[in-house]
Amino acid sequence: MANPSLLILPGDGIGPEVMAQVRRVIDWFGANKDLVFDVSEDLVGGAAYDKHGTPLHDDTMAKAQEVDAVLLGAVGGPKYDDLDFAVKPERGLLRLRKEMDLFSNLRPAQCFDALADFSSLKKDVVAGLDIMIVRELTSGVYFGEPRGIHKEGNERVGVNTQRYTESEIARVARSAFELAKRRGNKVCSMEKANVMESGILWRDVVQEIHDAEYPEVELSHMYADNGAMQLVRAPKQFDVIVTDNLFGDVLSDCAAMLTGSLGMLPSASLGLPMGNGRPKALYEPVHGSAPDITGQGKANPIACILSFAMALRYSFDEGANADLLEGAVQKVLADGVRTADLMGPEGGTPVSTGEMGDAILAALDAA
Ligand code: IPM
Ligand code: MG
Repeated sequence: MANPSLLILPGDGIGPEVMAQVRRVIDWFGANKDLVFDVSEDLVGGAAYDKHGTPLHDDTMAKAQEVDAVLLGAVGGPKYDDLDFAVKPERGLLRLRKEMDLFSNLRPAQCFDALADFSSLKKDVVAGLDIMIVRELTSGVYFGEPRGIHKEGNERVGVNTQRYTESEIARVARSAFELAKRRGNKVCSMEKANVMESGILWRDVVQEIHDAEYPEVELSHMYADNGAMQLVRAPKQFDVIVTDNLFGDVLSDCAAMLTGSLGMLPSASLGLPMGNGRPKALYEPVHGSAPDITGQGKANPIACILSFAMALRYSFDEGANADLLEGAVQKVLADGVRTADLMGPEGGTPVSTGEMGDAILAALDAA
């Protein structure tokens, strides 16, 4: 059988730096676990704009559709702030999500024991935290029509549209229930059914899918504003949270910060199964391109490395190897190896991006 294929899109800012460490991890699995990937690399975001005048070249889009999984670093940076909306780096990422139809975005927020002190919340509120946010990623206000800025009389009006079809809600709900079955068997669905019709429909459809197909999973509903409050009050009450595109964007950043560092969190964006049974998939760290530390060797590569672990788990059915990689990361953190973003009040000397990579490879060797 042919090797599984990976398209790597390092992107902008710290993207290339953290991705370089992922390449080393991929090579480690090839050399030590007989898990060889056909890896190709291409441009996305500002890097693609600089070369092609577009944040995602059509050839790159076509390649992304063909491979077994895409691994993305980060997009964006101040250099591109004044670009026309249509060619902003973020549009490259949004096009990938939309055209690959990656409707289910998995954003785990897990608190590593060694880092429980780093959260802005009290240690006992976050220690052992393990929640999964499932964010709808291809519809809602991000893509709804009409949209735009137009003139009414002598002032401008900005319009975006929140729009969801039943089938869009149903498929992401199923994906959340399936995940819950393999975890704590609980789903909390979040919307604003008190003010939005699309929220009423969301709540109805999630309930219908539950009753018809997943009655054994515990389901609750919450208004998204209360959800945000509960996430910082008592986050351990949650197992899987399912929500729309915009609420998911906000709530997942909130959940991410509970864990102490945005530099730690991976994500998976999954679509429908392809001919080979694997889902269309894109994996990326939750953090952005971090222009303030770009090129200084300070970036934490863990979120990107853990994104590759998610690829092993969700695209390649390599759960044991995903466990191995996640275990290596945990070991390194328990040993006190820290990039600058993970330095606590007690201080110490941070390691560089490459040294964090070294430590993780050494932990893999030792495992
Ligand atoms: C995210 C980001 C993106 C989003 C941006 C970069 C377009 O914030 O992945 O959460 O809003 O979806
Ligand atoms: Mg976001």
